Amino acid sequence: MNAAEALRALRLRPKAELHLHLEGSVRPATLVRLARAAGSPLFPDLAAVRARRRFDGLPGFLSLYRDVCRLLRSPADFALLARDLTARLRRERITYAEVYVSPAIVDRLGLDWLAVRDAVEAVFAGHERRGHGRIRVLLDAVRHFGPDAAHRVLDLHARHPWPRAVGFGLGGDELALPARDFASVYRRLDRLGLAPVVHAGEVGGPDSVADALRWLKPRRIAHGVGAAGDPALVRRLARSDVALDVCLTSNDATGAFPLPRSPVLALLRAGVTVTLATDDPGLFGTTLLGEYRCLARLGATPLELAAVARSGFRAAFAPPGRHQPPRPATGSARTRS
Ligand code: HPA
Ligand code: ZN
Repeated sequence: MNAAEALRALRLRPKAELHLHLEGSVRPATLVRLARAAGSPLFPDLAAVRARRRFDGLPGFLSLYRDVCRLLRSPADFALLARDLTARLRRERITYAEVYVSPAIVDRLGLDWLAVRDAVEAVFAGHERRGHGRIRVLLDAVRHFGPDAAHRVLDLHARHPWPRAVGFGLGGDELALPARDFASVYRRLDRLGLAPVVHAGEVGGPDSVADALRWLKPRRIAHGVGAAGDPALVRRLARSDVALDVCLTSNDATGAFPLPRSPVLALLRAGVTVTLATDDPGLFGTTLLGEYRCLARLGATPLELAAVARSGFRAAFAPPGRHQPPRPATGSARTRS
């Protein structure tokens, strides 16, 4: 089997995606509709959305993210995002997804968290009920909002647990505050039944990843590619169970790692567990298969592509039952909880 055949097989096979943000899943057409409804001149048409797909660094992307979030004015708007997201999961045959949903952003927008949560939950539950696959939530805080805002996310979850939430993560500007500032936040996770993840090694280097490991003890790292600069750290990751949820198009678009310079293949070949994901498919204009295509372009073999696809299921916080892992021979599409 060559890489093209492996990619064709992957298109048909059930896949898992572990690094995907709700707001970043907005379809361009939805963005135009939201902007119109909000009376905003920001995204008058699809061309205007596409024109903002390249950034001069992570801050440029986070500024777009802020613009997108400011258009969200009601729980119904969040339901629209959730519908865009589930439609894509169905289209791409992604039967297991862990989705970052950010109470910190909802709070900033002055919206009621429980109303937003219920609107999103109804869409995710409908997707599961119709047998399209399972969705789990990673509650998300934003690093540059600071540790107090992150604690508030956990306070909300402690008061009103969301059964769909299986983990807690930290996105935003990796360079704004050190991981150490969030140690007290992450110490609460075990008691709340939330698995720890963190965005690190996106624009930060090995020190940022090492700090995240030391202070936050994540089970997975979102991005993590910045670890590649330190061979000892790479060996440590390879020995550990910590997986890296790598997003090649995102790294390319933000300039964090232009695709040809991505160290993902070196990490994989050093024995680090890697999963592939789209991060913000609506804003970067990518698909999960597109991410596998990027990895193939870097030289991954069919066996390596299949190993990464398997890792998507194995590194999940709510591992699917024995029906779900991709088995080339069965072709079974249905998922059951
Ligand atoms: N990095 C940091 N914050 C984010 C990202 C990301 O890739 N996507 C959405 N928020
Ligand atoms: Zn991300």
